[in-house]
Amino acid sequence: MAGMQMLDARAATPLDIVRLKDYRPPDWLVPNVALDFDLDGPVTVVRATLSVVRNGLHDRPLVLDGSRLETSWVEIDGARVNATPQGDTLTLAIAGDRATVTSEVRIQPAANSRLMGLYASEGRLVTQCEAEGFRAITWFPDRPDVLSSYTVRLAADKARYPVLLSNGDPGVLEDLGDGRHAITWTDPWPKPCYLFALVAGDLVAREDSFTTMSGRKVRLAIWTAEADLPRSAHAMAALKASMAWDEQAYGREYDLGEFNIVAVADFNAGAMENKGLNIFNSKYVLADAETATDADFDAVAAVVAHEYFHNWTGNRVTCRDWFQLSLKEGLTVFRDQQFSADQGSAAVRRIDDVRGLRAVQFPEDAGPLAHPIRPDHYAEIANFYTATIYNKGAEVIRMLHTLLGADGYRRGADLYFDRHDGQAVTCEDWLAAMESASKRDLGQFRRWYEQAGTPRIEVHAARAGRILTVALSQRLAATPGQSVKPLMHIPFRLAVIGRTSGKRIGAERLVELTGPETRITFEGLDEPVLLSLNRGFSAPVVVDAQASRADLAFLAAADDDPFARWEAMQRLALDVLATDDDPAELVAAVGATLAAGEAGSLDAAFVAEAVLLPTEAFIGDQAKMVDVEAIHRRREAARTAIATVFEDRWWAAYRRHSGSGTALTPEAKGARRLANVALAYLVTAGSADAVAAAATQYADAVTMTDRLGALTALINTSTPERDTALADFHARFAGNNDVIDKWFTAQALASRSDTLDRVEALLGHPDFNPANPNRLRALVGAFAANQRHFHAASGAGYRLLAGQLLAVDKINPQSAARLAVPLGRWKRFDPARQALMRAELERIVGTAGVSKDVLEMASRALA
Ligand code: PHE
Ligand code: ZN
Repeated sequence: MAGMQMLDARAATPLDIVRLKDYRPPDWLVPNVALDFDLDGPVTVVRATLSVVRNGLHDRPLVLDGSRLETSWVEIDGARVNATPQGDTLTLAIAGDRATVTSEVRIQPAANSRLMGLYASEGRLVTQCEAEGFRAITWFPDRPDVLSSYTVRLAADKARYPVLLSNGDPGVLEDLGDGRHAITWTDPWPKPCYLFALVAGDLVAREDSFTTMSGRKVRLAIWTAEADLPRSAHAMAALKASMAWDEQAYGREYDLGEFNIVAVADFNAGAMENKGLNIFNSKYVLADAETATDADFDAVAAVVAHEYFHNWTGNRVTCRDWFQLSLKEGLTVFRDQQFSADQGSAAVRRIDDVRGLRAVQFPEDAGPLAHPIRPDHYAEIANFYTATIYNKGAEVIRMLHTLLGADGYRRGADLYFDRHDGQAVTCEDWLAAMESASKRDLGQFRRWYEQAGTPRIEVHAARAGRILTVALSQRLAATPGQSVKPLMHIPFRLAVIGRTSGKRIGAERLVELTGPETRITFEGLDEPVLLSLNRGFSAPVVVDAQASRADLAFLAAADDDPFARWEAMQRLALDVLATDDDPAELVAAVGATLAAGEAGSLDAAFVAEAVLLPTEAFIGDQAKMVDVEAIHRRREAARTAIATVFEDRWWAAYRRHSGSGTALTPEAKGARRLANVALAYLVTAGSADAVAAAATQYADAVTMTDRLGALTALINTSTPERDTALADFHARFAGNNDVIDKWFTAQALASRSDTLDRVEALLGHPDFNPANPNRLRALVGAFAANQRHFHAASGAGYRLLAGQLLAVDKINPQSAARLAVPLGRWKRFDPARQALMRAELERIVGTAGVSKDVLEMASRALA
């Protein structure tokens, strides 16, 4: 599929671009694969036996992919061939229409710091094959439309590798004598090679079982290091809940005799859905009250659900090519969001989804890295595991759910599974199934797959007597490579709220925006009204509507849609914080929300979300040009006003909600959240009592939520309590990777003026290890999200990031490439900062030997 080349004048090497339009079905299929791994020693020997079948009438050779393989020999039908790899491919001429191709290669997992293919993590051997890691294990047509049945034999030293796992169902353990053993796993379900996995090492299991809706009993196991075993209970509960939920919500049943999850400390992403053997970043498996926050518990459950749901959306029905990535990822994120909402606190979950989308995806869609949820070209597919593919992709599926209704959507999903089980398909196949099942025309809706950028909806309302006419018009800004954009099909929910009664008048309306402007009317109104817009965040758009601060404050108290109510407060805050105005109206609205919480008409979890100001980064996103210092100054002033005006009420909220134990009920989580928000405001107000309360909470905490909440409240102060808590935190949790990550992140996010120096110093801390992706993100990734300090006028923040990126690129290109993203926002800043940011991107692009991953990201970021 390699096509033309993209030349960046500054780049030392050109990039090969892969294009969707060049897709061709595979020339050869591989119905069966047998793999034989000899895992001992620094070198792993991999023998692969591929049954290959010519696909169609052609006389082209078999072309296999391989990366960094040391090839011992290759045979075709038992006869050695003189096979000389050409770069990363091996071309074999085959006379007949089928053959058996056998090869033996040597690989070195202990030397593999890229964490793709087979690598070592804390002495265990694990694989990561998505997207293109299988080629680092053996010669193979490494593309998702080649589906094979796998038989995998693992042989290893018993003492070093007591546990040997792969996909499917295990055979009996063979004793090989001389301290070695072997096992053969068989996976009956044909799968693309990106879903292959093996794990070997010293692990223990939490075991359980699940009986499926047709009465089959499935063995469940979560494998961790022995010391971590007690921390896997929450993940197991989430797994069982996910299995039951997918049966009930989508009619999908699990299809193997066992399901294994393995936690590993070194992992490029969150987790991986390998068939029957999910491999997880330990951060998304391990959780207990002492070491995990409530947000961590929720993230564990969501990721366990996400990977489990891939068994149908990704594995049973997989992707034809990597341009279709959102087919499995957008859909599976939507499914995990539905699951999480069904576990409780749906409104707060939705607010959280939107917050995440706006923090990462909206900026991506507004800058040089914008791409559609189905991109049409890439140089390195690893660079496209983005918030656009995942989170905007999920919003697109949610819009289908909204347009078709729950029943129509379910019929469409059923039809998709019926039609495509066992196939590698496209986003078009998904849409076609939705269309056939619902009899709806999704022609215009398809543009969501083709066009990048966040649509803007402009709203104008005019009142005549008892009728309100609302005009909604859509605008689509140009994005890289897409200057003219046809109109989108946008489901938009709205309602009117009485300005006197404070009640919704009439039903909520769902309007389908398809033309340049859509008009709707609300009739029979006998009082002034306000508009409640994009309720439930029905579409991933920006809404431009006029509303006075008084009206926004009113909606923040009266809107009956929880998302829209929260949104009104956000809009009010953004309006105030865009100016140097007195924040009195914002302060008053926060007071009203607190009062509603005190009166019991709003729950604590919602109050906690609503009284938080938008982040500095999000405030910056609204402006034509980000004024780093002014945003910080205004936001701090508003925070201080909110903190001091309501100091007594923060104390009341704190006393009422703190000490809520370790329960994971929505009520207890909401109470902890509000208590910690209150504590942060109290420390901001500046009394010695508040600092003492934070120090006491820190010391007495029975949950990580409360301990980290106290540390975070103290982190920006210059008090001995801060230093004591920080030192205690490090000592108390020494050796616990996930918690030590939090220690780094808390310091990287601090607003104290010494933050940049602290981060520089932490780069030299013995616990800082840039080869571990979690640790790199915890310090360097978090620092890049600290708007004020990353964007220090001197450019020191940019230099720090680029320096780390170039150093990490030599170890792990995927990790390094992600660090280029914050520099890609350069156009949003003043000319001096723009120049500094561009200079770092140019330094990266001009460095000899940078990886394809980094080169693609940095050159796109510069464009
Ligand atoms: N497919 C994984 C998921 O979203 C993500 C992943 C991508 C993991 C690439 C590892 C490597 O569930
Ligand atoms: Zn996924």
